[in-house]
Amino acid sequence: MTKKQLQETTEYLKSKGFDKPEIGIVLGTGLGKLVEEIENPIVAHYNHIPFFPMATVEFHSGKLIYGEIEGKKVVVMQGRFHLYEGYDFIDITYPIRAMHELGIKKLLISNAAGSINLDLKKGDLMLIEDHINLQGGSPLAFKDVAQFGDRFVDMSEPYNPEMRRMLTEIAEKKQIPLKKGVYVSVVGPQLETKAEYRYLKIIGADAVGMSTVPEVIVANHLRLPIVAISVITDEGNPDNLKPVNLDDIIRVAGETEPKMIALFKELIKEL
Ligand code: HPA
Repeated sequence: MTKKQLQETTEYLKSKGFDKPEIGIVLGTGLGKLVEEIENPIVAHYNHIPFFPMATVEFHSGKLIYGEIEGKKVVVMQGRFHLYEGYDFIDITYPIRAMHELGIKKLLISNAAGSINLDLKKGDLMLIEDHINLQGGSPLAFKDVAQFGDRFVDMSEPYNPEMRRMLTEIAEKKQIPLKKGVYVSVVGPQLETKAEYRYLKIIGADAVGMSTVPEVIVANHLRLPIVAISVITDEGNPDNLKPVNLDDIIRVAGETEPKMIALFKELIKEL
């Protein structure tokens, strides 16, 4: 990744009409419906955007969409890139750098996750307060990282306290239960064993997923305030572990999505 590549990427997007978006949004697995709220949308398919990784997982539509939500200019990633698809850390975080280069000032992230803390049930929303990186690498571990920001990025408060406070208040006002917790990222794509669920609980995780953490690290590198919500799609109870399948995860994500959309829309309005 070079600055020149990023500039080419954003030149292409600007030429399509991506004009000074204020807010970037990443939509997780099964969580694509927020795009229906975008007014005057302009769509760029990942496969057409210079230097974007090629989209592979078929249930992700793989589009970057520019437009307005609640009167704010937004750029939305419908579908993200995952390590488990064979990409590296630099690839999967390239779109975050591209959105930053386009000018976003805030980043909103969603994902589907399994619960470790069994107070979190299928269909719950969890505001991510902190995370644990178990993906075995960093999107900042490359030679030229210092050209893009600090190498030793502070992670004492990776999720913006002000936006977390706003989301908490919005959730109360709308009477949408919003739990809080620690998200742990794993590579996947296999789900966890019983022993792994026990381990993740011991180390302090409340929910587990296969994304988000690299994006959050890069956002912190760019000093981009972020907020993130997990949609709990399955429960990792090691004493009664049911086989999970992807269709279930996507179904639960879809059923829970309206609550997440309501929170994000109001946050966008208030930002
Ligand atoms: N584990 C890991 N990733 C996930 C899960 C899970 O249980 N559910 C959704 N993404």
